[in-house]
Amino acid sequence: MTAKSEPVQEELVLALPKGRILDELRPLLDRVGIIPEPEFDNDNSRHLKFKTNLPHLSLIRVRSFDVATFVAFGAAHLGVAGNDVIMEFDYSELYAPLDLGIGRCRLSVAEPVALSQTDDPQRWSHVRVATKYPEITRRHFAARGVQAECVKLNGAMELAPALGLCHRIVDLVSSGATLRANGLKEVEEITAVTSRLIVNRAAFKTRPEELHRWIETFREATHAP
Ligand code: PRP
Repeated sequence: MTAKSEPVQEELVLALPKGRILDELRPLLDRVGIIPEPEFDNDNSRHLKFKTNLPHLSLIRVRSFDVATFVAFGAAHLGVAGNDVIMEFDYSELYAPLDLGIGRCRLSVAEPVALSQTDDPQRWSHVRVATKYPEITRRHFAARGVQAECVKLNGAMELAPALGLCHRIVDLVSSGATLRANGLKEVEEITAVTSRLIVNRAAFKTRPEELHRWIETFREATHAP
């Protein structure tokens, strides 16, 4: 007699961003029934991939921009990324079906307070901007006929004006504390930002039921009181 084995479910990888969004994400993971292995909560851990209570579901913890890349290339099937990251890459392989309503902030243009007192953004024709978001920045300014020369930085953009790298920056603003601490003022909002559930389009075609179920589970958990 041959033993009839259960079909083995293929691994599903969910990519999550490191940093502050993860703190906001934890209650949502609880509500959807994902319990990561204890190592996941150890900030000093060198592990990057984690098991969960669900045998077929693994988590990876990567930089926010890399979440979009892992999912777009199908290395992860699902992920959580802000619309700032989604807009910057504009990957056609990414589908963002659900706003999770967390990670609320905005992507804005800022400049030194003293400059903002006499400056009129409507008169700009060319600006040099330090940013982690060169594509969004160029598109934003091009749409109103301003040429933006972008200096790509990966963090600490707020230092750039004081050190003479440029007068303006484009960065995320949440409480505004980092701008204030560095003598900067928000002069234009480019877009409001929240975190979205993102899905690899090819995976959505090959594993539709499973991915639909996850989207619905996240949707219910997001709207739960
Ligand atoms: C983000 C952003 C700003 C800061 C804004 O950086 O780049 O520096 O938060 O927040 P605030 O308005 O509440 O001060 P984050 O701390 O996420 O780290 P990062 O520089 O690595 O992106």
